[in-house]
Amino acid sequence: MDMTISQLDPAFQKDVFRCFEEQAYAIPARWLYDRRGSELFEQITELPEYYPTRTETALLENYSEKIAEISGARRAVVEFGSGSSTKTPLLLREMQPAAYVPIDISGEFLAASAAQLQKQFPQLPIYPLEADFMRRLNLPHEVADMPKLGFFPGSTIGNMIARTSVDLLRFMRETLGVGSQLLIGFDRIKDVDVLVDAYDDSAGVTAEFSLNLLHRINREMDGNIPVDQFRHIAIWNDLYARIEIYLEAMSDVTFAIGGNQYNMEKGQRLHIENSHKYGLRDARLMLRAGGWSPLREWSDERDYFSLVLAEAHPHKNAP
Ligand code: TRP
Repeated sequence: MDMTISQLDPAFQKDVFRCFEEQAYAIPARWLYDRRGSELFEQITELPEYYPTRTETALLENYSEKIAEISGARRAVVEFGSGSSTKTPLLLREMQPAAYVPIDISGEFLAASAAQLQKQFPQLPIYPLEADFMRRLNLPHEVADMPKLGFFPGSTIGNMIARTSVDLLRFMRETLGVGSQLLIGFDRIKDVDVLVDAYDDSAGVTAEFSLNLLHRINREMDGNIPVDQFRHIAIWNDLYARIEIYLEAMSDVTFAIGGNQYNMEKGQRLHIENSHKYGLRDARLMLRAGGWSPLREWSDERDYFSLVLAEAHPHKNAP
């Protein structure tokens, strides 16, 4: 990622000022992923406590062949938020896809990972799309007439509140069209200690990842937040079935950001991430609310993570 771009990102600065000016004390999680944040997240995915990445990867290794058999060959595979596309080859090598459309908001990331994939799949037409997938999209015209398979791994849907998830699923249905399919990852509800440890590891990498947000503010917005006076907290909210991540002030603190003075009291928290977890029936209902009919599901033996294949059927006049 190009630091000169992120350093000047006015949307980041706006969200940060809003957090402190309006005393909202929440910052959207997307700002965690600057260059340093992305590096730290890569490390998180390799932690012993962080089970989602390796569990979903194993599911794709074990079941991509079956998925390809059900879904059928010659689809255009459309990946929402493709990032570094590390799980994609597992699916593509079984799918015999007609094309691959990675969608990501970071153009640079997109070009690099598309080039990487092209090496592994020299015959595959790849049409990268630099876009915010949280909105309705127009797919590249080359794939217009192909049947589609949407791919949304990582339980990224878990980072949205329920109504945003449903909006996104509906957008995906409009983008991909009736008759398309969607392969989506859901992180499952499980033992609270397992969940909390996954978001608060013993080596402290996740804490460093969270706290990097404050360093980023200091770096990019001429701030002097005393980062060592904050701690990372991961809490299970059972009513909402989600892990909530906060940065908590450990003492009364005063700091400046871009020439403005702010205070936080000891114990006051900044909310920086939600990660919702699902029962299988929750996942099915969420999909149906977004216009997707579940077809098949695959889970690991501990039921830590599930892949669901769903289809966009035409709406009938059912009650
Ligand atoms: N979206 C990932 C998840 O919910 C990212 C993540 C892992 C994360 N650990 C985190 C985000 C800690 C914020 C803080 O699993």
